[in-house]
Amino acid sequence: MSQSFKDFERAGWESVADEYAGAFGELTQQSIGPLLDAVNAESGIRLLDVASGPGYVAGAAAQRGAIVTGVDFSAPMVAAAQQTYSEVNFEQGDAEALPFAEGSFDAVTMNFGLLHLGDPDKALAEACRVLRPGGRFAFTVWAKPQEAAGFGITLGAILTHGDMRVALPDGPPFFRFSDWAESTRSLAAAGFTDAAVKKIAQTWRLPSVDALFQTMQTATVRTAGLLRHQTPEALRSIRTMMSNASGLYLRNGAVELPMPAILGAAKKPAAPKEECR
Ligand SMILES: C[S@@+](CC[C@H](N)C(=O)[O-])C[C@H]1O[C@@H](n2cnc3c(N)ncnc32)[C@H](O)[C@@H]1O
Repeated sequence: MSQSFKDFERAGWESVADEYAGAFGELTQQSIGPLLDAVNAESGIRLLDVASGPGYVAGAAAQRGAIVTGVDFSAPMVAAAQQTYSEVNFEQGDAEALPFAEGSFDAVTMNFGLLHLGDPDKALAEACRVLRPGGRFAFTVWAKPQEAAGFGITLGAILTHGDMRVALPDGPPFFRFSDWAESTRSLAAAGFTDAAVKKIAQTWRLPSVDALFQTMQTATVRTAGLLRHQTPEALRSIRTMMSNASGLYLRNGAVELPMPAILGAAKKPAAPKEECR
């Protein structure tokens, strides 16, 4: 995968750290309980949270008594997380080349990180490498746009009024790991065993019918890039269509969008026959 995709993602995540927390924080925290349960996060375990962003998973794991490290390649994300969760050790680092020795952790988590990586298979292999034999790994990604309404509405509006083939750095398919079979296959290919995948119901509460457009434009990286490259006229039509579609989800004055997550979990074999790959 080209380096330019990673550079594009890094630059994006360095500029939207504040906006991301405000827009997505309440939503991405909904999967933390199931994610931590999937790696048996309990008091005393050494847990690494990869692509830790504002630090939500790391902070929650520390609350359970785990000894936690968070790693993210965005310096502003690391700084913000460290300020919020002083009991956690946050480091700047790349999910595809983790700065930790083999077998350093009992558990590794990644909440909505895998879909942003240029080489997610490398990141899976890295998660496997830094786990001790028998350690557990779990990740979440968004369900497909047919189910995750925030993405369904956004991509539907761009398809209808805009152009999906704009010049963005080439990256892996955003919804690759939303496919249960693909997630299971990829976990096994990275060296994991006992893979299990399930869906978690989540709801994205937005304050107005225009909030989805504003959020996608200011607090995301790849989707914001898609919007940035549309003509002003197309963008106006996209915004109107997104606003009308959001209106269908109004409940008591707020928009409530279904945004299920897919949770994949697996174990590093107790006696690995071969190295993680
Ligand atoms: C959608 S946010 C998820 C943040 C957090 N895990 C949460 O649950 O809200 C994606 C995060 O992945 C980080 N990220 C993307 N690519 C990365 C990479 N190659 N290595 C480390 N972090 C990466 C970004 O900086 C960003 O903080």
